Amino acid sequence: MKRRLITSALPYVNNVPHLGNLIQVLSADVFARFCRLKGYQTLYVCGTDEYGTATETKAQEEGVSPRELCDRFHALHAGIYQWFGIAFDRFGRTSSPEQTAIVQDIFTHLDKGGFISEKTIEQLYCDSCSRFLADRYVNGICPHCGYADARGDQCENCGKLLEPTDLKEPRCSSCGKPPAPRSTKHLYINLPSIREKLEAWMKSASVKGFWANNAIQMTQAWIRDGLHERCITRDLKWGIPVPKAGWEGKVFYVWFDAPIGYISISACHTPDWKSWWMDPANVELYQFIGKDNIPFHTVIFPSSLLGDGRDWTMLHHMSSSEYLNYEGGKFSKSKGVGIFGTDVQESGISADVWRFYIYYNRPEKSDVNFTWADFQERVNGELIGNLGNLVNRTLTFVDRYYGGQIPAAPLDPAFMQEVRALEAKIDQQLEAAELRDAFRSALAISDIANKAFQAGEPWKTRTTEPEKAASLIRALCLVIRDLAILLHPYLPASADKIAAFYGTKIGAAGMGWADLGKDEGLDRISKPDVLFSRLEDDLIQALKDKFAGNQKERAERDAAADGKSKAMAASQPASAEKPKAEKISAEKPAPEAKPIPLAKLPLEERFSKLIDLRVAKITKVERHPKADKLYIETLDDGSGIERVIVSGLVPHYKEEELLGKHIILAANLKPARLRGIDSRGMLLAASMEGSDGKEIVEALEAPWAAPGSRVFLSGADTGLALPEEIDIDGFFSVPLKSLSHKVKLGSVQLEVEGRALTTKIVANGDIG
Ligand code: 2FM
Ligand code: ZN
Repeated sequence: MKRRLITSALPYVNNVPHLGNLIQVLSADVFARFCRLKGYQTLYVCGTDEYGTATETKAQEEGVSPRELCDRFHALHAGIYQWFGIAFDRFGRTSSPEQTAIVQDIFTHLDKGGFISEKTIEQLYCDSCSRFLADRYVNGICPHCGYADARGDQCENCGKLLEPTDLKEPRCSSCGKPPAPRSTKHLYINLPSIREKLEAWMKSASVKGFWANNAIQMTQAWIRDGLHERCITRDLKWGIPVPKAGWEGKVFYVWFDAPIGYISISACHTPDWKSWWMDPANVELYQFIGKDNIPFHTVIFPSSLLGDGRDWTMLHHMSSSEYLNYEGGKFSKSKGVGIFGTDVQESGISADVWRFYIYYNRPEKSDVNFTWADFQERVNGELIGNLGNLVNRTLTFVDRYYGGQIPAAPLDPAFMQEVRALEAKIDQQLEAAELRDAFRSALAISDIANKAFQAGEPWKTRTTEPEKAASLIRALCLVIRDLAILLHPYLPASADKIAAFYGTKIGAAGMGWADLGKDEGLDRISKPDVLFSRLEDDLIQALKDKFAGNQKERAERDAAADGKSKAMAASQPASAEKPKAEKISAEKPAPEAKPIPLAKLPLEERFSKLIDLRVAKITKVERHPKADKLYIETLDDGSGIERVIVSGLVPHYKEEELLGKHIILAANLKPARLRGIDSRGMLLAASMEGSDGKEIVEALEAPWAAPGSRVFLSGADTGLALPEEIDIDGFFSVPLKSLSHKVKLGSVQLEVEGRALTTKIVANGDIG
């Protein structure tokens, strides 16, 4: 049995984690608990990711040292995870001497191996803050749309990616003074020269370690799109010093050191850390992260280890979850939208109930939306209605009619076989880290046990056929005890409580995976009490109101309610103070749109004034299960929320040809339902009749532009507000008449980031 080394993404220290962030630690916790119950030697490490610009800037703004800021937030994180019952072997931090030593050592190995190069670049420097400004810490006027408060990495208003030096009237986001360009030298890791090794490793590791599909797709796309040298240093104080003569005053970029945190946190835990991290023959590394962190874990960190040249334990299984959204919008740390770890602690709802919901809905294969209504329904219906009900009715029955003595009787083999088959399936699913599916399989056992109780009518047979009743009740008692073992990784406190009814324990000091299905020691139960209490409408409404809006709005509301309630003293019932529910604000304010009579506009204007054309990257391609010609494509449209469209490209492209393409999306079309799947937008393709009479279709592409980049007609007003949603009936498709392969509408050229869109093959045809 190989040993299992388990990690969950190291959360940034300088924020309170929200429910979406908690998925990673919770996922790794289930897996680690399962491995321990099965008897694997297991090490689960996590910790706070502390270095970098964000921490340094925040500390400066708060007038404390970065160390003080990190101490405070590290404790806050640790408290939240403890409340959730996460059984880390070690929850550490990256600002340790061990981290410095190991990061510097890996860097030195890379450097000796010839994988580090040096470049001098121009960056904006703020004289009054005496520091170089990271792109997002420069504000100014957007050169494209004139928006006054654009950030140096991207304009929030028009969505264009920027270089901070593009901004007009740039200012430092901390002090407001204008920064000036200055040259500075940096170190780069030469990924292209590690590429061959990386590709070979990835090909075999992703199969052996059955990586999550999104990780395979994204990694392949990264390797295919070409690896570049990546800058690994920064001009900052709060970071790990670069151990090289002539590089004093520079530190490593936080994403270079963060993944090495997994190693150093293990080193803080045990002097024997090399037996975990330098023994690939005997250790399997399982990593749990969110999909936004994939390339750092499958490309950059492995490249550091491969370039280092020593025999490191490399990633085995990648479990990269999709996003959890909040009431239809995004959880947002920076905007304070969503439910945060500290909120959950104050919710009055137990950790296991929250854990239940997160595992039940773990965004394993697609994004999942948290809504309060769904939370209430699932908890009351599944956790309480199914599991709680089974435990309660069975154990109460034993207590009441058998005086707490579990009756001795032969077990029904058919029923036990059904349960054992599901237990075997759960084992397989957990081995594959399919946590959500395994959880649902466990709840399926509870469901069949409930049905057996119902069908067996023990309240009647207890007197009419006592043997039969006894056999059923014994089997149910065994199943419940098994469920305590199976569910212990997910709901540890509740499973412990069930085990305690049986006078036993789960874990090192008690029962484990090997005890499943055995009815030894199944003698007595103590008087049971209820495991979970129902989530009533009042509570859910109150929580929904409380957590509506962003954190700032909440704080203002709380302060106002506080003041008011003090003034009104006890004359009003508390419920009268309830703030009204507010809609969660969308990430971007939608521009005001005035209706425009479509047909009256010239062709070019229909496009420029109505259709929101953007670049989007295809991140996943699947065949439509109900239509031969249709693909279902998942897109990254730059908004951070996945978008799904359906297109009829099967006859023209293979899946792998489409994957990774930066296509042009008509983003504000009214969703269309195509054979049961909602298509949120349409991909633009050019088509014409080929010489053989067959149709040639080619998707328009802008490989140079980032997802979200807008597509404009040359010379069009780029600041124009577009309607949020339009009905395209009647004016798609349009003729494409251009023998030069430039994509024009009428006589006007389409452009992305100032570059003309062109076709490769189609010249004289249509776009639709
Ligand atoms: O996205 C994040 O929160 C990062 N701090 C994750 C780092 S994971 C690892 F590399 F440390
Ligand atoms: Zn400044």
